[in-house]
Amino acid sequence: MSLTYLVYVSQAERALDEEALAAILAESRAYNPAHGITGALLFVAGRDGNSGSFMQLLEGEKADVDTLRKRIFADGRHHTKVVIEQGPLETRTFADWSMAFRGVTAKALEAYPSFARLGEPDFVETFNRGDAKGALAFLNEFWNAPAL
Ligand SMILES: Cc1cc2nc3c(=O)[nH]c(=O)nc-3n(C[C@H](O)[C@H](O)[C@H](O)COP(=O)(O)O)c2cc1C
Repeated sequence: MSLTYLVYVSQAERALDEEALAAILAESRAYNPAHGITGALLFVAGRDGNSGSFMQLLEGEKADVDTLRKRIFADGRHHTKVVIEQGPLETRTFADWSMAFRGVTAKALEAYPSFARLGEPDFVETFNRGDAKGALAFLNEFWNAPAL
C-alpha cells in the first residue's frame, strides 16, 4: 500500500458550460469513491477566445491513480495534459472529497504568483517546476482561502 498524489494541468477542448462541468463531476463522483480516489478539480474559464484550463489533483493508491490518470488523459474533452507534480503522500489533503470542484477567476489567482497564469494556454511552458510553492500546497491553500 503506497499512497500517492498527482497534479496535472490541461486545456479544455471547447468552452465548457455548467452542464458540461457537472457531467465530468458526476462521472468522477461515481468512479472515484469505488477506487479509493480523492482530489480536487479547478476550472479556469478562458479569456480572449481560449477554452479554459483545468488543474486536477488525484490522491490514492499508486496503481489506482495511474489507472485513473490514463482514463482521464484519454478523454477528448481536454488536451495538452501535463503532469506538473507527483509524489508519495502521508495523508490525503482532500480526504473528504471524491472530487472537490471550484470554478476559478483570473482575479482569484492573482494572490498566487506561480499560478496566476493558470488560465493561459502557455501556462505549462512558463510554469517553474522548481517553485517552492508547489501545486499541492497551492491547491490546499486556495481551497481554504475565502472565495473571491
Ligand atoms: C478534466 C477532467 C477531469 C476528470 N476527472 C475524473 C475523475 O476524477 N474521475 C473519473 O472517474 N472521471 C473523470 N473524468 C472523466 C473521465 O475522463 C471519463 O469518465 C472517462 O474517460 C470515460 O471513460 P469511458 O469512455 O471508458 O467511459 C474527467 C474528465 C475530464 C475532462
